[in-house]
Amino acid sequence: MLLEVTDLAVAYGRIQAVRGVSFAVDKGQALALLGPNGAGKTSTVEAIVGFLPKTSGSVRFCGKDITRASASEIARSGLALVPQWRELFPGFSVEETLEAGMHIGRKRGRTNVDDIYQMFPRLAERRKQLAGTLSGGEQQMLAIGRALATTPTMLLLDEPSAGLAVGIVKDLVKVLKTILANGIPILVIEQSIPLASAVAQDCLILATGTPVWRGAMAEAEKSDDIHRYYFGDQSAGSWQGDAKGQRT
Ligand SMILES: Nc1ncnc2c1ncn2[C@@H]1O[C@H](COP(=O)(O)OP(=O)(O)OP(=O)(O)O)[C@@H](O)[C@H]1O
Ligand SMILES: [Mg+2]
Repeated sequence: MLLEVTDLAVAYGRIQAVRGVSFAVDKGQALALLGPNGAGKTSTVEAIVGFLPKTSGSVRFCGKDITRASASEIARSGLALVPQWRELFPGFSVEETLEAGMHIGRKRGRTNVDDIYQMFPRLAERRKQLAGTLSGGEQQMLAIGRALATTPTMLLLDEPSAGLAVGIVKDLVKVLKTILANGIPILVIEQSIPLASAVAQDCLILATGTPVWRGAMAEAEKSDDIHRYYFGDQSAGSWQGDAKGQRT
């Protein structure tokens, strides 16, 4: 397995945000991490990449234990996160933002910036424009471009479609499919079920910090349970698993 997360727990002081989260993603795979607001999705990925401390559990990436590695060591090892709020420097141009990403990836081989511009023609047209002046869709593409500039072995994306118009989400799906076709596995956190199912084969659903369902994305879509967990209405009836996924 490329990324293996075992029994991960994350806390903010006395607030237990995540517990008992385990999953694995292998080469060529795409996993969707779903769940209602506050389910612990962001906390999970931020702990994986070393932005947040883990209270317990372990993370292995490319066969190495990265549980206690720093965020910069993890980024250099090839695990890149596109964060929920994009976190671009508004005063950096498109070009400078991509260069910053390339700087992180330098040790593992050179990213060809032209390949990134080819994937995002709008960014190529706006090379000199400041990140803060781009549209929401362009900023999301730039955040993905910056992650790709690090020459990642795997990409984690936290709600990339948030706040974007339907047309832009279609472009985003194409981009994610191209990234997968280029051999970079993906873990995508999503609120948009259509995006998640267009990209990912498998899904893991979190609710109140713990895994509640895992299985094939196609099965999850057919199941009433995904809607129940998704909208956070867990009181609605008992488990009537018609889908082949497993309640965890
Ligand atoms: N900095 C923080 N301090 C205290 N509690 C926090 C902090 N950040 C998140 N939490 C809490 O941790 C829990 C999980 O939050 P998290 O942001 O990981 O959820 P999420 O699934 O990403 O939600 P969303 O879909 O809204 O992005 C929530 O109860 C949240 O209130
Ligand atoms: Mg979040």
